[in-house]
Amino acid sequence: MRPVLIVHGGAWEIPPVAVSACRAGCRRALDAGLPILDGGGSALDAVESAIVALEDDPIFDAGYGSHLNLRGRVQLDAILMEGATLNAGAVAAVERVRNPICLARRVLEASPHVLLVADGAEEFAREQGIALCEPEDLVAPSQRQAWLRCREAGHSSAAHFPSQQGTVGAVAIDGAGRIAAGTSTGGTCCKYPGRVGDSPLIGCGCYADDEAGGASSTGWGEGIMKIVMAKTAIEMLRAGRSPQEAADGSIRLLSQRVKGTGGLILVDRQGRVGASFSTPNMAFAYRDATGAVVIAP
Ligand code: GLY
Repeated sequence: MRPVLIVHGGAWEIPPVAVSACRAGCRRALDAGLPILDGGGSALDAVESAIVALEDDPIFDAGYGSHLNLRGRVQLDAILMEGATLNAGAVAAVERVRNPICLARRVLEASPHVLLVADGAEEFAREQGIALCEPEDLVAPSQRQAWLRCREAGHSSAAHFPSQQGTVGAVAIDGAGRIAAGTSTGGTCCKYPGRVGDSPLIGCGCYADDEAGGASSTGWGEGIMKIVMAKTAIEMLRAGRSPQEAADGSIRLLSQRVKGTGGLILVDRQGRVGASFSTPNMAFAYRDATGAVVIAP
């Protein structure tokens, strides 16, 4: 099978001025992951590399350039899941790790746990040889400005809206039919310190099962958790729906059952892709099994 990679940079109202940066960021993520797949590498490696590229790009709400929380600090969440074994590794509320997806990978491969948070996750990073940064190193000047504006406006939702950015994620199937999925986020603008959304939760922010497919979610985490969106989409695949039907069905459920907005990307075990969102736009890109490359918006 020809390998497939799909990435997203979040479902939100992308202002016209940010469209080309989002497209370029998604393209760089494909360029980071596809050579791994084309060289016979694993879906897990490709997804991790694609997400590192997205975390490093300050146009997205992940890694450097994430939203700040109420205290004016970045707190990051990430998950990586392997569809062959159903093993997953995740971290939440970390403040000193530039690429939390790499720490999630270490949790997956070098710990008996699925999710580590805050100080414990950072201690594990140190043990694993992952360099810790200063919390301030994760703060982009644009996000510091946005946070100051939000604080000035009393943290009204109207104040948060213009500084919105998107969670990132990736799903791949490699030449051996192995599926992996991952998601990484700074969470919501001016979130309560310690708030964790859907992204690092297995079945909510992502899911991967070689017997059905892989999915990565983006959007309003409190709603996505309630419908366990990524696993819900995978169960739709298992029930025989196409990837596009499963993506659309999950986003419809998010809207109808919990009045939530968001987006989802999917790859099924045949390498077919699906992408759906209920926001004005979603930044995403993929190379499908025919070799065609699509970049949106
Ligand atoms: N979907 C990202 C979050 O709510 O934290």
